[in-house]
Formats: sequence, structure tokens, C-alpha cells
Amino acid sequence: MTGEPWDASYQDGPAPWDVGRPQPAIVRVAARGGFAGAVLDAGCGTGENALHVASLGCPVLGVDVAETALAMARAKAAERGIEAEFAAADALHLERLGRRFATVLDCGLFHTFDGDERPGYVASLASVTEPAATVYVLCFSDDGPGTGPHPVSQEELRAAFGPGRGWQVAAVEPDRVQTRYHDDDGAPAWLATIKRI
Ligand SMILES: C[S@@+](CC[C@H](N)C(=O)[O-])C[C@H]1O[C@@H](n2cnc3c(N)ncnc32)[C@H](O)[C@@H]1O
Repeated sequence: MTGEPWDASYQDGPAPWDVGRPQPAIVRVAARGGFAGAVLDAGCGTGENALHVASLGCPVLGVDVAETALAMARAKAAERGIEAEFAAADALHLERLGRRFATVLDCGLFHTFDGDERPGYVASLASVTEPAATVYVLCFSDDGPGTGPHPVSQEELRAAFGPGRGWQVAAVEPDRVQTRYHDDDGAPAWLATIKRI
């Protein structure tokens, strides 16, 4: 559980990815009814995406290794009067939660894992998802200029969530991810929609 280095990112002002509002790509997914049932936000940070989904009426658990981020997420939930749960947990060992989710959101977490960590992460996701569950991954893409750190290719996404691992990649669409260091248009991203078989 690599909590401490991540926690430091939240201690001296906003982290580079912490834009203070939900990602437009996630807002669009929510607007088309993409979040249903119990929702897990893996690597939720200070909770903007989780709080947006929770504000639409879904029960949401946001997990992160950074306690400072979780404290901020809980404070925002209280301030905004939104019911959402935030807990410390390692996304590489989600089975420890002992819970199941119909929808999982990964906004900016997958691309932080090295290639050799991805199979463990994908198995961890499998341990908390019901058959037919949906996982959304929004990550920096390798397609286009001005991308963020650790860009991911479509092929890497498709390989990580292969049918042999119990998943079907329904779509990988080009999108954008906002950061504090890109202009308003953000950085090139993939929005992957993945179904648990
Ligand atoms: C790039 S940030 C994205 C945060 C948030 N999803 C957002 O969009 O603002 C990645 C987040 O994943 C968290 N994280 C990194 N490794 C983790 C792990 N193994 N388990 C849970 N959270 C993790 C970090 O603490 C950080 O908050």
C-alpha cells in the first residue's frame, strides 16, 4: 500500500490532477445513465467524481490510499450535504473490502500502475464486481500531443482487460482529461468501458 508518497501530493495545495470539479468525461457518462447500482470509485482522490455520481442518487464508496485526500472528500460531502462513503483501501487488494459493486470508476488510477502491477489490479477489480458489472477507466492516452505522465495505449488497455481474465472491452473512446497544468481542453485520454463477463 503506497499511501505515504500519494498522501504527500495532497498536503501542500491541490495535487496536479485535483481540478476541483468532476471530470467532464465522467459527467457525460453519468448524464447518459452510465452509473447504476452500487458504485466504487477506485483511487477517488478528494472525491469530485464520486460526489457527482452520489449526487445523482447512486450509493458510492470512494477508496484511496491517501488519508489527506479522503479527509477532504468527507469534508466536501458534509459541506455539500451529499451522502457518500470514503474509506482507506488499497486498490490492488479490493477483495479486503468484502463488498460487490455494479459499477466501478477508475479516473486516473490505472495509468499509475506499472505493467507488472496491472494483472493484480485487474484481478482485484474482478474480486469486487458482479457479473455484467461495468468498469470505466479514464486514463492519459498515448494518442496525440500534450499527454500526461504514464500515457497508456489502447492495446495496453485491451490486453489488461482481456476475455481470458473475465472481461470484455466494450469501447475505448478518445476523450480528454482535465489537469491543473493543461489548458481548458485538458490532455488526451482514453475512456474505456469494460464489462465483467
Ligand atoms: C491521479 S490521482 C486521481 C485521483 C482522482 N480519481 C481524481 O480524478 O482526482 C490517483 C489517485 O489514486 C490513488 N492511489 C494510488 N495508488 C493507489 C492504490 N494502490 N490504491 C488506492 N488508491 C491509490 C492516489 O492516492 C490518488 O489519489
